[in-house]
Amino acid sequence: MSVAKKEIKRITTHVLHAMKEQGEKISMLTAYDYSMARILDDAGIDILLVGDSASNVMAGHETTLPITLEQMIYHAQSVIRAVERAFVVVDLPFGSYQGNSTKALNSAISIMKESGAHAVKLEGGAEIEESVRRILSAGVPVMGHLGLTPQSIYKFGTYSVRAREEAEAQKLKEDAKLLQEIGCFAIVLEKIPAVLGKEVAESLHIPVIGIGAGNGVDGQVLVVHDVLGITKDFNPRFLRRYLNLYETIKGAVETYISDIKTGDFPNEDEQY
Ligand code: KIV
Repeated sequence: MSVAKKEIKRITTHVLHAMKEQGEKISMLTAYDYSMARILDDAGIDILLVGDSASNVMAGHETTLPITLEQMIYHAQSVIRAVERAFVVVDLPFGSYQGNSTKALNSAISIMKESGAHAVKLEGGAEIEESVRRILSAGVPVMGHLGLTPQSIYKFGTYSVRAREEAEAQKLKEDAKLLQEIGCFAIVLEKIPAVLGKEVAESLHIPVIGIGAGNGVDGQVLVVHDVLGITKDFNPRFLRRYLNLYETIKGAVETYISDIKTGDFPNEDEQY
């Protein structure tokens, strides 16, 4: 029997932990606006992530670095207004938590207070331990994020698979354990070998959600614009597209333009 069946009124950290315990996979997608969040929530998604990937897919930036705390709060408010059932997690953006745990705490509190979100997500392990501890001490649930952490793209220099080497894999395992020990309710693992994803998921009692981390983890997350084919030039191996909305929308708009030009729209039934 499904733990998170659609009739469950609200997904909570408690429900997510029960899903892991009972081996039910967790579904997660990004959302940045009211209309899309409403559809995803109605479809029964378990977690909505107001990701800093908004910087890419909503604002057109090359990286996630430019998006601000205020912009993340704006997106989170729009998503929260739409959601009845899903658990909503919001990314703390680059510069709002690194190297300063008081700033991290204030950023997390602003997100929770101003948007009504249910949790925050931070990228990194031991290096952000103090920030994670301070946020948790305020009663704010924290989701960790390890592996490929896009806010550090200029350190990595590439978006290729992380933790293929033993030393990096070892650090990732230690960071995952640490995040669990200090109280994170879940962890995202991005773009790492599937065997490592499975090993980490099996060694933790909190849910591990993967994006390009294989099928041995406790759930999957993707960027909704990629899943629906609104983006078209991003084709990593881990992505499964369920629609080609870029072409569908383009075709519909071309027909709309043509109907206006020919005078076909509006017809007699479409006017007063
Ligand atoms: O911002 C985002 O979309 C993310 C996912 C890739 C997990 O952090």
